[in-house]
Amino acid sequence: MLAALPLLLAAVTAAPPALAATPGATAAAVPVTPVLTPTMGWNSWNKFGCNIDEALIRETADALVASGLARAGYEYVNLDDCWMATTRDVNGDLQSDPVRFPSGIKALADYIHAKGLKIGIYESAGTATCAVAGAYPGSLDHEAADARQFASWDIDLLKYDNCNSDNRPYLDRFKAMGDALKATGRPIVYMLCSWGKEAPWSTYGPASGGGAWRTTEDIGNFWSNGSQSTPMGVVDILDAQVGLEPYSGPNAWNDMDMLEVGNGGLTDTESRAHFSLWSLLNSPLILGNDLRTLDPVTKAILTNPEVLEVDQDWGGSQGRRVRDLGGGLEVWAKPMSDGSVTAVLFNRSAATATITTSAAELGLGGSDTYTLRDLWAGTDSTSTGTVSASVPSHGVVMYRIHWASTTASARPAPTR
Ligand code: GLA
Repeated sequence: MLAALPLLLAAVTAAPPALAATPGATAAAVPVTPVLTPTMGWNSWNKFGCNIDEALIRETADALVASGLARAGYEYVNLDDCWMATTRDVNGDLQSDPVRFPSGIKALADYIHAKGLKIGIYESAGTATCAVAGAYPGSLDHEAADARQFASWDIDLLKYDNCNSDNRPYLDRFKAMGDALKATGRPIVYMLCSWGKEAPWSTYGPASGGGAWRTTEDIGNFWSNGSQSTPMGVVDILDAQVGLEPYSGPNAWNDMDMLEVGNGGLTDTESRAHFSLWSLLNSPLILGNDLRTLDPVTKAILTNPEVLEVDQDWGGSQGRRVRDLGGGLEVWAKPMSDGSVTAVLFNRSAATATITTSAAELGLGGSDTYTLRDLWAGTDSTSTGTVSASVPSHGVVMYRIHWASTTASARPAPTR
């Protein structure tokens, strides 16, 4: 009991987190539907592409519940491209593919809702969606009707893509759908998928009513291709986040794209790094793997409660790179709402290396003792200020660090 006192004091007296960023240009934005924490769920695209049908979606919803992933916080079951018929119906409304979704989307929504989950759908702010060379009708100039259709099906989330834009302005296209969703009166989370084009985070993203926006081209099932061209590796996407910290926050999330954990292209070490960094940067966590064949290692990664807590916690800034030590060794950190800091020691080099930083560099200076919780090992240690670990190649060590001085009330003001 007494041993816990310093920690409690530190929490109670914690000054604003030292890493706290500027509040952000988007802080006052009001999305179509509030998105107070990064969205968690599953999406069909990364694993299945166009090869989807209602049996797969139902089985995925079943697996989400049976596996415990739903209990861990994954809530949305999202259809991506190719759910629809290639033509609109006689009234000009979207309809689901009659062969692959014969029961229709409303029946699927009812099934998913009955399991305590939510359903998301996909469209494009263009004349056609992205897949199959423009075979599927887009929502451009059909926004009101399509939004009404989604609402009538009890849809809870829309991922709105950017293909076949007809070269029309981003704000016009994305705001038209945002306004249309709002007009339905149904709370539909609005996620923009315009691949970071024309800086949605500071321009048309919030202005369109989006609650999140993709920051890059599509993720691929690999570590890195060293470029920003599609598909991008995990590390390539991470590199594109530097500088976007001011634009993230409740109702305004920077979306680093769907997860590739469990899809076989990453080692377990790389998967933990991918998941740690997406969480540290408050990205939506949208699973992209086959949940019907979940292996124990993948499940343990995706349900680590202490890492999920980092993703869902808002302490004033998303994670950021605080130090590039050279040679592929980096320190990333994020302030937590209880005054602690989560740090990711990230080794992108080809060999195991020791990465060292300090509590002061992480914005937690001023104490004589710190507690370090290793979020992957589940172990605790104490330090007088040094934060250091041996980190495997392409891996991370992730610490949550508390100020544990016995003179907590004397904690100095943040230094940065
Ligand atoms: C784009 C999006 C992807 C996916 C596909 C579907 O590439 O960025 O996430 O939705 O379209 O065609």
